[in-house]
Amino acid sequence: MDSVSDYYSATQLRSDRWSALREATTSISRESGGKPAAALKARINDLFESLALIEPYWAFPGMAAFDHMRRQFEHKNHDDLAFTVQRVTRALTTGAYRRRSIPLDREGPEDEDHNDEAMLSPEARAMSRPYFEVLIVDNVNDQQERWLKSNVSRMRRPEDPFHYEAVVVPSLEDALIAVLFNHNIQAIVVRPGLVLKSKNANEILTKYLSNASDSGELDAMLPENYGPELCRLIARVRPELDAYLVTERSVEDIAGLDLGICRRVFYNQEDFMELHLNILRGVAARNKTPFFTALVNYSKQPTGVFHAMPISRGKSITRSHWIQDMGAFYGPNIFLAETSATSGGLDSLLEPHGPIKEAQELASRAFGSKQTFFATNGTSTCNKIVVQAVVRPGDIVLVDRDCHKSHHYGMVLAGAEVVYLDSYPLNEYSMYGAVPLKEIKHQLLALKAAGKLDRVRMLLLTNCTFDGLVYNVERVMEECLAIKPDLVFLWDEAWFAFARFSPTYRQRTSMRTANNLRKRLRTDTHRAAYEAQQKVLADANDDDLLNTRLIAPPNARIRVYATQSTHKTLTSLRQGSMIHVNDQDFKGEVEQSFHEAYMTHTSTSPNYQIIASLDVGRRQVELEGFEFVQRQIEAAMSMRKAISSHPLLQKYFKVLTAGDMIPDQYRQSGVTSYFDNDQGWTDMWDCWEQDDFVLDATRVTLAVGGTGWDGDTFKNDVLMDKYGIQINKTSRNTVLFMTNIGTTRSSVAYLIEVLVEIANELDDLLDDASRMERLSFDKRVKNLTENYPPLPDFSRFHDAFRPDQITPEGDIRTAYYLSYEESNCDYLELTGSLKDALDAGQEVVSAGFIIPYPPGFPILVPGQVISQEILAFMLALDVNEIHGYRADLGLRVFTPEALAKLLASKPLKTAAE
Ligand SMILES: Cc1ncc(COP(=O)(O)O)c(C=O)c1O
Repeated sequence: MDSVSDYYSATQLRSDRWSALREATTSISRESGGKPAAALKARINDLFESLALIEPYWAFPGMAAFDHMRRQFEHKNHDDLAFTVQRVTRALTTGAYRRRSIPLDREGPEDEDHNDEAMLSPEARAMSRPYFEVLIVDNVNDQQERWLKSNVSRMRRPEDPFHYEAVVVPSLEDALIAVLFNHNIQAIVVRPGLVLKSKNANEILTKYLSNASDSGELDAMLPENYGPELCRLIARVRPELDAYLVTERSVEDIAGLDLGICRRVFYNQEDFMELHLNILRGVAARNKTPFFTALVNYSKQPTGVFHAMPISRGKSITRSHWIQDMGAFYGPNIFLAETSATSGGLDSLLEPHGPIKEAQELASRAFGSKQTFFATNGTSTCNKIVVQAVVRPGDIVLVDRDCHKSHHYGMVLAGAEVVYLDSYPLNEYSMYGAVPLKEIKHQLLALKAAGKLDRVRMLLLTNCTFDGLVYNVERVMEECLAIKPDLVFLWDEAWFAFARFSPTYRQRTSMRTANNLRKRLRTDTHRAAYEAQQKVLADANDDDLLNTRLIAPPNARIRVYATQSTHKTLTSLRQGSMIHVNDQDFKGEVEQSFHEAYMTHTSTSPNYQIIASLDVGRRQVELEGFEFVQRQIEAAMSMRKAISSHPLLQKYFKVLTAGDMIPDQYRQSGVTSYFDNDQGWTDMWDCWEQDDFVLDATRVTLAVGGTGWDGDTFKNDVLMDKYGIQINKTSRNTVLFMTNIGTTRSSVAYLIEVLVEIANELDDLLDDASRMERLSFDKRVKNLTENYPPLPDFSRFHDAFRPDQITPEGDIRTAYYLSYEESNCDYLELTGSLKDALDAGQEVVSAGFIIPYPPGFPILVPGQVISQEILAFMLALDVNEIHGYRADLGLRVFTPEALAKLLASKPLKTAAE
């Protein structure tokens, strides 16, 4: 049997064990005439042993059925056993157990539905009542367990909107394992009989414990507090779940405790109906989709349309002679739901009072914000809204220079003075990493020394980056607040909405961190730590401050904004995005300007289908985000493993690991990769808890330089044209495969097949190659893997756009508008006049944004001085697409006269002044 370390997750282990058991029991039943081989019997035994540790956490097939199978095996009823195991594995794979009870006995009734569940029509699936599992935590014997379960099932009523089965575990530790393992659990009932320790010895399962609780924390608990403590601990890892605490203690005893996700305390153990109703209500609260439901209801109403929108109710299509195919393609519902009405049960996005407001409030709960706003035109717009709402002209904003272009345009619109922060370069792969904290602190300290800290308004970072680098959000915010206690943070989480639903990833989301900091900063322990550090740092210089992990003052303001492209990582129509706010001063200071900014950028005809999809996407993540994200990570991990361990693939490809993408000094855990051929899997938790940067495992960057193709050619000519595989990011010698919550194990398998085929073809090609062809191939590979142009740093803004030479902030807006006057600009050719000018030591200044694809961020912004390094990089970039650059004319730069005139109008202050 494979060892446990071959598995990244317990769910993979479980499904593989059941498949193996099905194969083994089918074989043994075929051999039932003769004497089954001892090896086969031993294997079945081992599989039972292994599953016996796993199955107590799941309701289906349940321990009674499981024990029955073991008895069938002991009594050599091999045919019956094979039949039962077959039914179980099939029901587990298709999810049939969620919809009906599965007869496991050959003598019993026929399984009424032999159809593959996946073949059920969407309507039939939509009609079936959703299923979930309720975890009951109580140390009971078998008889008491049966009594508990029968009490629960007696409460079922035909009118219940959902149905559920109970799983009973004895201890707090088992409960923590269960909620991290069994994604069917939606509610937990904690009863007074629970004990602390689990008897489970499965390595993968017990690993979950260290993720859910700090070492020592469990042992320090008082037995009477196990119940409340469990509710508190589950809140950390699965905040979306509901817990119900059944207790024998007095109301007063319980009142002062932190009960985490506990929705209700029951003082009467036997009130099963009340409990049942509460469980259903709790799940219904997450299942609710106010706007989607309103839209569905609206579309059913007979309405006469006398407003502007001919497509509404499909009228302009059904009456058409020419565009019937559109109606046929989309079906009627989308047009029935198309409307511009803000009444009749609907709502206005610009001034929400009804179902949109409620949908936004539910999203706020789901994502842990204080306020959430929907946007129907992408995170590009969300970014501009937040920047306009928070930043006033002249405010200083620190921005990572390889951020999305919407931020640069946002800076222009807001009139910010921009300090661009350099990310560490990954020259070898022609991509940037992320901004080291020291660089951010250094800039803040310099601004402080220059007496400008009061004008510093915002720090803007991308988390995670396109390539999957993830900041230590808590550390960054805390240390920055230690220097500037009211700094506003905008975290561009365009790629990170899903992170909230994985306990590991959630630690590095801005909303979770904001909530943590709000709590932590108020504690006495924090105050004491802060005061102690202040004494030590009394005479500290900047170097000391840079090298110390700074503690934020207890009165720091927590002011955090996140923008998320829900459509990129969760279920939502394209352009569906959200802004999450967790700003202590939002109500007092920002609300009005936020409203204005929202009005500036939001269409007065927002698309209702997008809003409805955001509402449904939120429902999904609150009920099954944990399961889907877990599966996504598993799929990505199996992809990493399959590529890294395939001998042929290793010849031409390499999956980049954390060690490749994050320099050692930012990986305090020392973890270099999530999977390695010798050691198997590394638990991600450790590095996600402590490292300065971690790698999002769901984004797999593949170095393809070994194939002789550059990233773009590999993407377009090989993956897309030959195999129909779509990806959207490449660098000079890498391609990025993104998994998402829809990625399946079979789509991963297809990709691996394709890569193997490509590698085989390359092998054949090189086998038959002439010496010249071989030389040319080697040269291409060498060029891609060894000769890489160093990535340039942000040079600086020209003095005409800087208030002084002391700190680097620049007025990007003046530069941007200066170029509107054609006479201020000139065009220089890269290899001709531009090179000559730079060689002659002239200062040449870009008049616009120059954005090569890849890497896809501005290599030059308006007002930026063009350095030799930037020119060298542009010349070395072998990409076809450079936005802002006119190959026929050259690079657009400011004329020396325009710059001189501007400079003369506002003399620059020097450090001496
Ligand atoms: C980091 C980042 N922020 C913002 C955006 C813009 O998001 P949207 O496409 O939702 O407008 C993108 C798009 O790729 C992005 O990569």
